[in-house]
Amino acid sequence: MNMNSNSNSKADNVGIIAMEIYFPQNYVNQTDLEKYDKVSEGKYTVGLGQTNMAFSGDREDIVSMCLSSVRNLMEKYNIDYKQIGRLEVGTETIIDKSKSVKSSLMSLFQEYGNNNIEGIDTVNACYGGTNALFNSVQWIESSYWDGRYALVVTGDIAVYAKGPARPTGGAGVVSLLIGPNADIVMDRGQRGVYMENAYDFYKPDLSSEYPYVDGKLSIECYLRALDKCYAHYIENYEKKTRTTFNLDQFDHVIFHSPYNRLVQKSFGRLYYNEYIRSPNDARFQEFKTNFSTLGLDKESYSNPKLDSVSLKISKQDYISKVSPTTLLSKELGNSYCGSVYSGLLSLITNTNDSLIGKKILVFSYGSGLASSFFSFTIKGNKSLNDIRIKTDIVNRLSKRIKSTPEQFTKVLETRESNNSMKSFVPIDPIDDLSPGTYYICHIDNQKLIRHYQYKPLYPSSVPTLSQKDLNLNNNIHHGLLSKLSCVGALIFNQEGQVLLCRRSAVKKSATGRWQFPQGGVEVEKNEDYYVAVLREMKEEVGLEPSVDGLKYVSKLPNPLSYILTKEDSSRMNHHGQTIHWYLFYLPKDLISLVNLNNEDPPEFDSVMWHSFQDFLSNPELVVDFKKEMFHKLFLESQPIISHYLIDLEASK
Ligand code: ACO
Repeated sequence: MNMNSNSNSKADNVGIIAMEIYFPQNYVNQTDLEKYDKVSEGKYTVGLGQTNMAFSGDREDIVSMCLSSVRNLMEKYNIDYKQIGRLEVGTETIIDKSKSVKSSLMSLFQEYGNNNIEGIDTVNACYGGTNALFNSVQWIESSYWDGRYALVVTGDIAVYAKGPARPTGGAGVVSLLIGPNADIVMDRGQRGVYMENAYDFYKPDLSSEYPYVDGKLSIECYLRALDKCYAHYIENYEKKTRTTFNLDQFDHVIFHSPYNRLVQKSFGRLYYNEYIRSPNDARFQEFKTNFSTLGLDKESYSNPKLDSVSLKISKQDYISKVSPTTLLSKELGNSYCGSVYSGLLSLITNTNDSLIGKKILVFSYGSGLASSFFSFTIKGNKSLNDIRIKTDIVNRLSKRIKSTPEQFTKVLETRESNNSMKSFVPIDPIDDLSPGTYYICHIDNQKLIRHYQYKPLYPSSVPTLSQKDLNLNNNIHHGLLSKLSCVGALIFNQEGQVLLCRRSAVKKSATGRWQFPQGGVEVEKNEDYYVAVLREMKEEVGLEPSVDGLKYVSKLPNPLSYILTKEDSSRMNHHGQTIHWYLFYLPKDLISLVNLNNEDPPEFDSVMWHSFQDFLSNPELVVDFKKEMFHKLFLESQPIISHYLIDLEASK
């Protein structure tokens, strides 16, 4: 995708050209959560209107999620990294009081020689993304525009302390490519804004991910902002267009969605506002009968009877105009800054008919508080079709992993303790992450620098078995992948040497050759890969991370495989292995702790430290049938080992 526009020409039809969303693979079901929290049936699913809630474990933070979102956008739409001239991030998930998320995202662009990108982060609760979008559109419409695209990256990890707010958490990051001649055009000059100093939701405790939140006040603030913004939008609209504003001209309305019930109520409230503007409109007779003196005052914010009439009057239009925008917010929960943009993506996902000519009104709200109404007009279908196909929302949602409320609670407890530790090595399995995910490898304990790795989006970039191997025998191959799922431990020391083990006489082949500790996963016991590698190391070389100065470092993103020749496979009774490789660090002198006699008979009869490269080129040492896989292991492990050793050196 390339920008054709000339920077000297005036940019017209500025808006959204491409979109992507990243959300975590794990979710918890709200019905399950109701039972676990022992609240009345229907409280979260009907009372809040939510279905599922996304959450991330110890492998993800706001930087990794933004990296994933941006890289997936760039790869899926084939966008040239040099074509981005502005990058703005909107988030309230703060992991650093100084360094912006935008600066971390520069790692993607500098690789392509593009350090010439304006823009930085905006922070104000769930509103940062909207400010980022406004800045980006205005840049393209201004004299400072250099002819390139702008990129808006917006979203959060929303987590709450135990209590009534917890089911209104969620997670997700949306990326928006902004440029001229867009199909989703932001209506020029048409906005309503309302800002106020409020303490409804805020995060004064920087040692915690959780906000201070006054739930009831936050709803009151939200609804007040809705009324005021709506009035300002109408005033501005009528002044600019010299026509009378009419809510019916909008085909869809997207609301910031902390939980779906508030969205339903908010749409109803717009009808109540319309009644106040046109009290004699026959559609609003029921408002007139019951609430002729209530107005928009405080008492109207929590008035069950008004809610019920508003919901009734707006119900039909809600189904056609608002409901299609709520798919992602019901499935992911509140993605804070990403919320309204996930609403736009939901609408695109849910609408197969042409949206050309349709008008979309948006209400963005961030506690504290900042809020805006703004609108889009759809000028073409091409980008929408592209977005629908490339984001593949329904399919991706269906592939998520359902967790129990117990697992969800445990994950939040781990996040809490990691947050207070500052530096840590995550232990969640990488296999659970979806393709196209950046994840934390470790946060070093000296400089607290975060190190990330990427699990590739497309299988082509994944090291797999060669076509020749695959053709060997398809049936065997399928059996191999499902049956011989293995783990391996690559242990290295401060000099970068790796721990080699000599195959003892118990082995049916390659006796006396050298390899690494490895073994089969106990699939029948549903054994986790990490647990399996710890067990194998204990059995084969007698080492344990907690007791022996052995430190977990990382895991290769994808398993590596080898296939045996027919002759070897009949002798060894299997056809090869698929090995998930884990990297560990062991100080050189602690090789003395190795104990080969935990197994009877022992798999290995000797160990030594050795240069990995020299090992590969010495046919006397290396097990022949594993050589190719070891070569891939060498290539993939070297950057991780070098990185770790640089940090280690710096920490001295
Ligand atoms: N079946 C059906 N409905 C039920 C049931 C049930 N079994 N039980 C309760 N409900 C209804 C209640 O009647 C209530 O409806 P209402 O909103 O129409 O009055 C609704 O479910 C919620 O129940 P409450 O008891 O009022 O709410 P609770 O005290 O549990 O907290 C709240 C809800 C305030 C939203 C809380 O989850 C929270 O603080 N969330 C975070 C703050 C938030 O999201 N604020 C919104 C704007 S700011 C932002 O975006 C962060």
